[in-house]
Amino acid sequence: MLISPSILSADFANLQSELDRIANADWAHVDVMDNHFVPNLTLGAPVVEALAKVSPIPLDAHLMIEDPDRWAPQYAEVGARSVTFHIEAASDPVTLARTLRSEGARASMALKPGTPFAPYEDLLPELDMVLVMTVEPGFGGQSFMADQMPKVRQVREAVRRLGGEVWIQVDGGVSAATIEQCADAGADVFVAGSAVYGAASAADAVDELRALAGK
Ligand code: DX5
Ligand code: ZN
Repeated sequence: MLISPSILSADFANLQSELDRIANADWAHVDVMDNHFVPNLTLGAPVVEALAKVSPIPLDAHLMIEDPDRWAPQYAEVGARSVTFHIEAASDPVTLARTLRSEGARASMALKPGTPFAPYEDLLPELDMVLVMTVEPGFGGQSFMADQMPKVRQVREAVRRLGGEVWIQVDGGVSAATIEQCADAGADVFVAGSAVYGAASAADAVDELRALAGK
């Protein structure tokens, strides 16, 4: 089980020290937004490269961008250990996932709340993780969508049938109040932005989330 705080809710003027605040986390989640796939703009590969050099923990890049077939591999090249592309934006997900793995990254597919899993189940052998979004991508601090839990269960069941090692990530509105239902549904990688960076102690919030998810 992994806790991956999202630096979207961190202080962008002090990202290195903001990463140090979550040194007890397993991953740091980096939200890349291009103002096209989502109506918000954050950062790109040069910033991920700089963060990878100073981060005490592996970077988990979540690419909310158009044309990931073209742009996603460079995030693996600059040091992201997990690279998540949105299936809604990918043209050739099999080739993309293989490219990411050949660059040494974990390959991950994200599903927006309105995107069903069943049409993409056949991709599981090419993937290391499936991200089930629990908010509409684009912004931190939104309300958790409990109606995505059946999809998490569906992915967990498919992974069990396949017998492989595919992790299931949830992202959006994950907090002390919602993480247990995610874990019950079968998620094992938990992204939390505002719940971690909005806390007085980010490290304590990480520990609390980990304890709740492991119950
Ligand atoms: C939303 C991002 C999330 C965001 C989560 O589009 O993908 O990673 O940072 O923030 P919270 O945890 O505040 O919902
Ligand atoms: Zn994210």
